[in-house]
Amino acid sequence: MPTAAHPPARITRDDYERLYADSVRDPDAFWGRIAQRIDWMRAPTQVRDVSFDVADFRIRWYGDGELNASVNCLDRHLDTRGDKPALIFEPDDPSQPAQHVSYRELHARVCRLGNALRHLGVRKGDRVTIYLPMIVDAVVAMLACARIGAVHSVVFGGFAPQSIADRIADCGSKLVITADEGLRGGKRIALKANVDAALAMHGTNSVETVLVVRHTGAGVDMQMPRDRWFDAVVDSQHAHCEPERMNAEDPLFILYTSGSTGKPKGVLHTTGGYLVYASYTHECVFDLREDDVYWCTADVGWITGHSYIVYGPLANGATALVFEGVPNYPDVSRFWNVIDKHRVTLFYTAPTAIRALMREGDAPVTSTSRASLRLLGTVGEPINPEAWRWYHDVVGDARCPIVDTWWQTETGGILISPLPHAGTPKPGSATKPLPGVRPALVDANGELLDGEAEGNLVILDSWPGQMRTVYGDHPRFIDTYFKTYPGMYFTGDGCRRDADGDYWITGRVDDVINVSGHRIGTAEVESALVGHAGVAEAAVVGFPHDLKGQGIHAFVTLKAGIEPSDALRSELVQCVRTGIGPIATPDRIQWAPGLPKTRSGKIMRRILRKIAEGATEQLGDTSTLADPGVVESLVADRTAS
Ligand code: WTA
Repeated sequence: MPTAAHPPARITRDDYERLYADSVRDPDAFWGRIAQRIDWMRAPTQVRDVSFDVADFRIRWYGDGELNASVNCLDRHLDTRGDKPALIFEPDDPSQPAQHVSYRELHARVCRLGNALRHLGVRKGDRVTIYLPMIVDAVVAMLACARIGAVHSVVFGGFAPQSIADRIADCGSKLVITADEGLRGGKRIALKANVDAALAMHGTNSVETVLVVRHTGAGVDMQMPRDRWFDAVVDSQHAHCEPERMNAEDPLFILYTSGSTGKPKGVLHTTGGYLVYASYTHECVFDLREDDVYWCTADVGWITGHSYIVYGPLANGATALVFEGVPNYPDVSRFWNVIDKHRVTLFYTAPTAIRALMREGDAPVTSTSRASLRLLGTVGEPINPEAWRWYHDVVGDARCPIVDTWWQTETGGILISPLPHAGTPKPGSATKPLPGVRPALVDANGELLDGEAEGNLVILDSWPGQMRTVYGDHPRFIDTYFKTYPGMYFTGDGCRRDADGDYWITGRVDDVINVSGHRIGTAEVESALVGHAGVAEAAVVGFPHDLKGQGIHAFVTLKAGIEPSDALRSELVQCVRTGIGPIATPDRIQWAPGLPKTRSGKIMRRILRKIAEGATEQLGDTSTLADPGVVESLVADRTAS
């Protein structure tokens, strides 16, 4: 691995206790050491400068250090690992050839695109939106931005034009990189057409150029001079591109994520701390070794793809698999066949995929070898013990440790996770904080809870991968994360700590729904629903769902004179699919003659959640409702439906 590893990659239980104690006692020394794992153009002399006190708020890591993230992910491996595959691309269609992209080739491709971007007028600090399928050029695009100091904003390929437009407008992107089409499970996704539709929407005038990767070869409308074919612009560029010197605190990327209110927030991560943290956690949590073939099934459109397909693995000189497809195409053995085909050793996926594949029985798994596997990981939502056991016993043949990694877009990297050699696994528990991370539980009043307890999960001190701001809205950053419990970072998650000090995440306590590991803000779905002319009001809540973890239940009140119908229901579903994207499709739409409100007009979601769960005997106190009759009718309808 790249450096004299600090801490050692294989952390035993004794190491862990010692490292953890040291890290908390002297965080400056600990994080100063960890920072040595990456290559700096100017080594930092400062480690941390942090205050969570809103009156004197700051989060700065390695403040006088200078580096370039792409140099760390590429150039520094060329001497020792130039011919090693950096990426293995496995296409959606298994009859098409896989591609092995060496560190040398990836470096050349990134440099060419970096030069092309500069040629097109993109400068340090400019924003570039990336809307691509899971192909090698998605990684190339991110690293090319990093090379020239442009700030990338990757938008998940499943988002609809309105969501793309909102994200472009919010950060004022100068350039968009997309492809003709995406391909998932044999279906084509009209990416370029979606970008065209987005750029016709309000607020997207900042975009000067659209680079279009030829992927499926489908014909697309090219609007000159705005639209340029990627290969036509990039292939002729020089394969050397001078990297931009970046301060540790210069932005690396923006990634939009849903919050409990309003529009998605642009989570901003900076260069030095983020890269140190992604690389450190990728090595120690996955127990990374030189000859590993590592596969994270996330999409680069999510933080998991950023930290654990691109920045962490490549900074560590690992071989990472990039998978374009889906778990059930052409059949439900696809994951396991890909593992055998590429001799994958480390496999990282989401509980929702595990649950879906578990439903198909053991045969599609046991018909494959999976002998190469050494470690399994999960991320994105709590894993139920039954799915954990199946993953462990059937997929891992009861011989691979499982790391259940808890973290968030905001945290940049894993904060709480078992370490593969450091303890007894507990199905369903993310167990212990990584060295350097200080979680705690608080009650509703913000009092810290000791020992065995259940409460809200907060983090008491900063870590290098922490987000630095909400792009363009610093007050929102502070309000959202540091005001609920003054002096602490509030995660938005509920959590239990057992007698051994192990953490069990229970799920979001705010108005964010976690559907198949994707964060969806109830407010976003509500705003898409009320966009329909027949809708007076909508309230959206989550409910437990066997496969997805949580499903979306929408209570919809129609305008006077509008009659409920199946046709209307389909129109509303369509509003959400085109307003946000298919991932936010409501599972249920319940017609609501009225919504339960307090006398001051606030919707009582607590009650709606209970109705959606079917836990109608536990509605609790409804005496503060303006009209308690509303609840009775919703319960009756829910029971009838
Ligand atoms: C949830 C994904 C339980 C949690 C990396 C968090 C988890 C939200 C786990 C962040 C886990 C993530 N166990 N819950 N191992 N991992 N979560 O921003 O509710 O897409 O707040 O980041 O996912 O989702 P995000």
